[in-house]
Amino acid sequence: MKVTVFGIGYVGLVQAAVLAEVGHQVMCVDVDQKKVDNLKKGIIPIYEPGLTPLVEQHYANGNLQFTTDAQDAVAHGEVQFIAVGTPPDEDGSADLKYVLAVAETIARFMSEPKVIITKSTVPVGTADKVTAKVQQTQASLNKTVEFDVVSNPEFLKEGAAVNDCMRPDRIIVGTYNNNPIDLMRELYEPFNRNHDKMVFMDVRSAELTKYAANCMLATKISFMNEMANLAEILGADIENVRKGIGSDPRIGYHFIYPGCGYGGSCFPKDVQALIRTAEGEHYQPKILQAVEEVNNRQKFKLPGLVKQHFGAELAGKTFALWGLSFKPNTDDMREASSRTLITELIAAGATVKAYDPEAMEETQRIFGVSDELVLVGTKEAALKNADALIICTEWQQFRAPDFDLIKQQLKNAVIFDGRNMFDPARLSKKGFVYYAIGRGESVKKVN
Ligand code: UDX
Repeated sequence: MKVTVFGIGYVGLVQAAVLAEVGHQVMCVDVDQKKVDNLKKGIIPIYEPGLTPLVEQHYANGNLQFTTDAQDAVAHGEVQFIAVGTPPDEDGSADLKYVLAVAETIARFMSEPKVIITKSTVPVGTADKVTAKVQQTQASLNKTVEFDVVSNPEFLKEGAAVNDCMRPDRIIVGTYNNNPIDLMRELYEPFNRNHDKMVFMDVRSAELTKYAANCMLATKISFMNEMANLAEILGADIENVRKGIGSDPRIGYHFIYPGCGYGGSCFPKDVQALIRTAEGEHYQPKILQAVEEVNNRQKFKLPGLVKQHFGAELAGKTFALWGLSFKPNTDDMREASSRTLITELIAAGATVKAYDPEAMEETQRIFGVSDELVLVGTKEAALKNADALIICTEWQQFRAPDFDLIKQQLKNAVIFDGRNMFDPARLSKKGFVYYAIGRGESVKKVN
């Protein structure tokens, strides 16, 4: 099938590469000439495991094309994905200007029927706006070419996006009527193996499904962070509590890991956007508001523990920091807890020596070059003469470090672990003061 994808960002590129992998002929279009030129040379704008070989292979065999020519792109695909960004505007609502600009472009150039699919995460009601935009544009050009608008949200996790896209656990398709259903089934047939993963529904339900999924997951995390904070006050170990509740299949083990707060491009943005949508309808979404507040507070947890140990004034102190990205296997720093930590420590007068396997360039882009934030090439290099080690992201390579070396290199044997990676008893035996989230030294000793 011939497919066009507007927007060569995260969602668009992964979706396009995976559709090309199963044999669809995909044309990707973006306004960014440099991005398009780079992709043709095999330079991929994001770090995502497995993506580069897919893009290179299918660009070479012609299944995947890149262009800035919107007219060509509209002519190419029977289906037209809109996968452009929806950045939060000042009040946290999703800004639809790019989505609607694409709708207008499609309307302007289309000369035969098209199925227009919104893939970007867009607020409930966006498909209606896209429909209206296409109708208005056609009317202004005296055109009446048939089209259908479909809501087909993505559920990709960064770091596992190619796999998530190749083996989706559900394919949500919201339609206004039955017209586009056959085409949507054909498009996703290669991914719809074993059992039927396609769930058809009305467009508004499909749009809300995306937000409900992410907000539910964010709620689980904030809930666990709240429990971790309570565990600290009450003298309990949250890791025992986590295992204890996760064994109930109604709760489950997934997404109940406490930590130094969730980040990334989805949870913070989507929780905020749904809050704004609700408030716009004069409804106070109390759970969502609490989820956001708890997460914002949690990002101050690590700097709080550091100040509890070393005092509020950190001038002259240096901290080794392992992990900068918002989670492992990505270079994405959006809303990462490490950003709050770095800002807080530097504001208190400290120097930070940081290492991340992928996010160093991104960190430099965000924080610039300064004496207060030194980026080093290995995790060991961060340790030398630092006052303590702080861990923000649970990269695999941090899971079994050489504790003797850490102790030898640090001025004080103190570790602040924002991801509960180690056993407090073992670290204590090795002579470390070990702070974690809801356990270790962070837990108030009762009696
Ligand atoms: C998320 C959703 O998982 C995905 O389905 C959706 O399409 C986009 O948003 P992503 O943002 O890539 O994906 O990352 P995810 O693995 O969900 O992690 C998000 C954040 O939550 C990270 O900062 C992670 O550290 C944190 N997290 C996750 C926890 O703190 N505890 C957990 O138990 C799980």
